[in-house]
Formats: sequence, structure tokens, C-alpha cells
Amino acid sequence: MPFVNTWSDTETNHENIALLNNFNACSTMIPPPIDFHRLWTAVTLAPNHRDPYSVHGPDHWRRVERNGCILAAKTGAKIDVVRLFALFHDSRRENEGWDPGHGKRGAEFAATFRGRFFDLPDEDFELFRYACIWHTEGEHHDDPTIGT
Ligand SMILES: [Fe+2]
Ligand SMILES: [Fe+2]
Repeated sequence: MPFVNTWSDTETNHENIALLNNFNACSTMIPPPIDFHRLWTAVTLAPNHRDPYSVHGPDHWRRVERNGCILAAKTGAKIDVVRLFALFHDSRRENEGWDPGHGKRGAEFAATFRGRFFDLPDEDFELFRYACIWHTEGEHHDDPTIGT
């Protein structure tokens, strides 16, 4: 017996349109992948940036990123949050010593790039912000992303 399509073309089209709308709604909730190369370039070229080889400069951020990625593979931390933390956590230091508030300044600096150079769901951005602000306090946190 030959295959009989019991749906009319109109029904099929309505179904396809509904699927497409659903896909579009989902795709607007998932941010595109972060172009970390572009973001690093923008952050390291920003004014007030210090020597790349300073103790808390980009060389250090790269090590934090690498170690964070290794840890994240074990802890299940959110990798984008870990990588953003590495890039921004010391990005707004004003000196290489005791520098209260530099984590918070780093998080605020990151917020100026959000929506232009990267995006994160609010919940993930809050994890990132928390990790930046409190990274100098040395407290353990139960959330694996913050802990990493
Ligand atoms: Fe720091
Ligand atoms: Fe650091």
C-alpha cells in the first residue's frame, strides 16, 4: 500500500512554523559561544592596564584560566564562568599588593563588556560576580563554579 500523507500541506506548514518559532524562542535564551580571543584582546587593550608580565597581570590570568579549566573538568564548574573569572578577577587592580575592592571593580568592568563582547544568563553572571567580589576572602564555597 502506498504511503498516504493524511496531513494537508497547510497543516504541515503550521506544524513547521510552530517548530521554527519554538526553536527561535529557545535560541534566544541560549547566548552564543563567547569569543574569548576577542574578549581578551579588548580587556588587555583597555586603559589602565599594566605590564602583561606583572605579578597579577595577564600572564597570571592565563595561568588562572588554565588551572581553572583543569579543575572545572573535575568539579563540574561552569567553564565560561571560570574563564571569565580568570580574565576579570584581577583586571582592575590598582597595585600589586593589598588592593581592597579590586575583585568588585573587576566584576563591574566585566559588566561593561556584557551584551557587547559576551553574554551569560543572569544566574551565571551572578556566580561570576560573586566569585570575583569574594576571591580575596579565601572562603570555600559549596557551589562548584565559585569554588573552582
Ligand atoms: Fe585578586
Ligand atoms: Fe589573581
